[in-house]
Amino acid sequence: MTLNRRDFLKGSAAAAGMVALPAGLARAASPVREFPLHAGHLEQVLTKGGPKTDFWGFNGRVPGPELRFAKGDQVHIAVSNELVGIDTAVHWHGLRVPNAMDGVPFVTQYPIKPGEVFHYQFETRDSGTFWYHPHQMSFEQVPRGMYGPLIVEEEKPIEVDREVVWVLSDVRLGGNGRQVEDFGRILDIANDGRLGNMVLLNGKQAGDDSVLAVRSGERVRLRLINASSARIFRLQLPDHVINVVALDGQAIKPRVADTVDLGPGMRVDAVVDFMAKPGSEHKVLDVDRRNRGHVARVSYLDYDPIREKPLGAPMQVQANELPEPDVAKAIDHYIVFQGGMRGAPVIGMIDGKPTNIQEIMEKDKLAWTMNFTAQHEHALMHEPLLYLRKGDHVVLRLINETDFAHPMHLHGHFFRVVGIDGRPQVDQHWRDTVLMGPRQSVDLAFVADNLGEWMFHCHILDHAAGGMMGTIAVE
Ligand code: C2O
Ligand code: CU
Repeated sequence: MTLNRRDFLKGSAAAAGMVALPAGLARAASPVREFPLHAGHLEQVLTKGGPKTDFWGFNGRVPGPELRFAKGDQVHIAVSNELVGIDTAVHWHGLRVPNAMDGVPFVTQYPIKPGEVFHYQFETRDSGTFWYHPHQMSFEQVPRGMYGPLIVEEEKPIEVDREVVWVLSDVRLGGNGRQVEDFGRILDIANDGRLGNMVLLNGKQAGDDSVLAVRSGERVRLRLINASSARIFRLQLPDHVINVVALDGQAIKPRVADTVDLGPGMRVDAVVDFMAKPGSEHKVLDVDRRNRGHVARVSYLDYDPIREKPLGAPMQVQANELPEPDVAKAIDHYIVFQGGMRGAPVIGMIDGKPTNIQEIMEKDKLAWTMNFTAQHEHALMHEPLLYLRKGDHVVLRLINETDFAHPMHLHGHFFRVVGIDGRPQVDQHWRDTVLMGPRQSVDLAFVADNLGEWMFHCHILDHAAGGMMGTIAVE
């Protein structure tokens, strides 16, 4: 085998996480917030009186524990792998961490073998709603239950009566409550991804039994996280005003929304004033065409309202400092997406060799290309899709030539969504994951200011496994 860029993994930089820091190296200035995460096997009951379901998860539950930090904390998370015979690694979705702490096997670190511990250390640069999950066989490890919320509080949080975190996901159950172990089927890879047959809210069956009890007059900040591997949620709460205040953790000018869209990987912070009558019942609907149901029930307690009019306090969340891209001087790059079950025949470079994807789809379990290339998850020899210089201003034009929606996620950076189908966007929100519609083109702008090789992939995890995954190198 010839030497390749990945040889750096054999060096010291990426291996640093494997050893405990000598005490003398601990930073003196800001306090180090330590947190242990144990990846392991567990069982959990999902419905009242129902059977136990088998999961892989963190610290014995699904979702894993909420990690809550202040902005600017020095965080130290020791991930120990107690899974039997399964390697893993943990990625901090949305956090702008140094590359070696990004948790991507064979790109930023070696997988954590059973019995090993990896020490992730980074500073929380941005406040917001984030989450964590493995980047190792993620199409299997995530739906098996390995995910959890990660919250970084603003220095001055907005004034609410209460904060509620909802981690939405799903699971595919067979009889007797066990998970169906059909991960990575080409049928799922080449279509909408692997959908579960039970939607979960914070690790319990979503729907009537997921009850949010509120007191009339209450203002609640809802932190919504979509941790499912393929399911897109479109949430509505009839008779209530939903104010969206942050997307993917980044503040926006508060905006009233009828519908909250959450592709896999995405987060939305919403402020809701619960002004309906004491004793009344309401449903949080999911109106996505594939789902159609409700994820939760809002149940007003039979107490007097705590206030008659909504709280007057402002909802604008403190913004993070992000490097502002200058579209006028930006370098344009194009990434074209092809493939899928109903897609045009795709001929491309597969793991470095020209191949007809339609012919190898079944056997190789690849169904998608980015710029006419596809590679198996974390193939050792692949080249980055793009090389950028540190400090480059970049516009990425994503051209979706497939009949499917793809939530595209970039690691290590936030980008502004500046254009859709060539039309400049008014709001240009910051995001780390953008839901690209079928046959749509989406323009992203960002400053490549974080050194390293960063994943850029579809967050429908079966699509990522099926070729919709690449890296962008910032040098
Ligand atoms: Cu949420 Cu590449 O990950
Ligand atoms: Cu996709």
